[in-house]
Amino acid sequence: MHPRLDDDLARLPELLDETRAQAVRLLAGLGDRPVAQAPAAHRSAPLPVDGSGLAGAMETFTRRWEPGFSAGAGPRYLGFVTGGTTPASLAGDWLTGTLDQNPTSGLDSSAPDLERETAAWLRELFGLSPEHEGAFVSGATMSNFTGLAIAREWLGERLGVSVAERGAAALGPVHVLSGSPHSSIGKALSMLGLGRSAIREVDRLPGREAVDVGGLAAALESLDGTPAIVVANAGTVNTADFDDLRALAALRERHPFWLHVDAAFGAFAALSPEHAHLTDGLDEADSVCVDLHKWLNVPYDSAIQFTRRRDLQARVFQNSAAYLGPLGDDPDFVHLTPENSRRLRALPAWFTLAAYGRDGHAEIVRRNIALAARLGERIAGMPAYRLLAPVRLNVVCFTLASSPERVGELTSAITASGEAFLTRTVYDGVPALRAAFSNWRTTEADVERVAKTLERSALVDPPVPS
Ligand SMILES: Cc1ncc(COP(=O)(O)O)c(C=O)c1O
Repeated sequence: MHPRLDDDLARLPELLDETRAQAVRLLAGLGDRPVAQAPAAHRSAPLPVDGSGLAGAMETFTRRWEPGFSAGAGPRYLGFVTGGTTPASLAGDWLTGTLDQNPTSGLDSSAPDLERETAAWLRELFGLSPEHEGAFVSGATMSNFTGLAIAREWLGERLGVSVAERGAAALGPVHVLSGSPHSSIGKALSMLGLGRSAIREVDRLPGREAVDVGGLAAALESLDGTPAIVVANAGTVNTADFDDLRALAALRERHPFWLHVDAAFGAFAALSPEHAHLTDGLDEADSVCVDLHKWLNVPYDSAIQFTRRRDLQARVFQNSAAYLGPLGDDPDFVHLTPENSRRLRALPAWFTLAAYGRDGHAEIVRRNIALAARLGERIAGMPAYRLLAPVRLNVVCFTLASSPERVGELTSAITASGEAFLTRTVYDGVPALRAAFSNWRTTEADVERVAKTLERSALVDPPVPS
């Protein structure tokens, strides 16, 4: 054995204790370190030839890299839609690396059954029926990709061709209809060989990101019976708007389409009694995308993909190899998602659900929703700002009242303050900012700190040119 490895093995308990102490120190400082920082220029170091052992690597990391990292797991990181890491999910993540299971084949371990149990718990959490079967993927983009891959196979089934065998070209042009598709849908269609231009954006309700069901019905009518894919939204990224899922599902009585729902974070609305109605009809979808590194507060990377057509899923993703054996009635995960080998991704989710249960996670969701509403009220009371949409769930979308074009400067000022991190967008043609609440640590005191930062950062209007 290489002497450095040999030394580390001999000192493993002590080294892991030091690593644990380092993690505890980092977590204790999460609320105090700059929430985000503009990345500094870094010159890459040469590849170590001899290496410095774990202690040396830790010293180098702590000096060179860790200070530049964001407090992405902290309470005032409100950019994108970003969850943190509950204590139990962190422990689950540590054990994931420790046990280093590959759960995709059912030949050697009970790990795949832990994934099945976790998928069933999540299905119940979101009010889906047992006809929906889940598989773990790395994030909502891959969950959308997987759902749309199954949709693609379904289109083939309707036309009497197997896309898995003959390729996407066998389908001819494909129609994907959606009101406000997330950017990951275009990426997925590109990867699937269907092309980004397959997306046809359908009219939205006035002043909303939700699709106009009448407009969608008309668009489907114009396809004249050609099978299509509809991508519905349960929680849009800008304003957390929801399509009327039940009304959309009912359109299948008149038109042939696969209903895929991007519920990356919106599925969690099912945990709040006042918001659960937003997810009505989710169960009727043919495929559903839910991210777990967002509102379940497990560490990156984790999401789940549900579908009612596991047979088609296995047709797309099956990995035929003599050593894997036949597919069987309950295919191993190797046959269900893009990866052949991967980590035991379910374990952090299993830990957090086992530790806090439905009620613990419902409390996080309800608190985040209340905090978003509170920030919305504070912003509505600031003359410098204008809300661009009602706060429907956990996202606050707003802009500078008199100079929206300066949102970029405002974003940089907020980031430079180290107090909060919010991300930019364009909503209905207006440059805007979003604050998305999905971290289990966030409290009212954090909202007040963010509000104060916004007050301080409000830019004075530029001088009127003479
Ligand atoms: C609605 C929606 N879909 C898909 C995604 C993509 O998620 P990921 O970055 O985890 O792939 C996001 C991310 O914010 C999202 O909000």
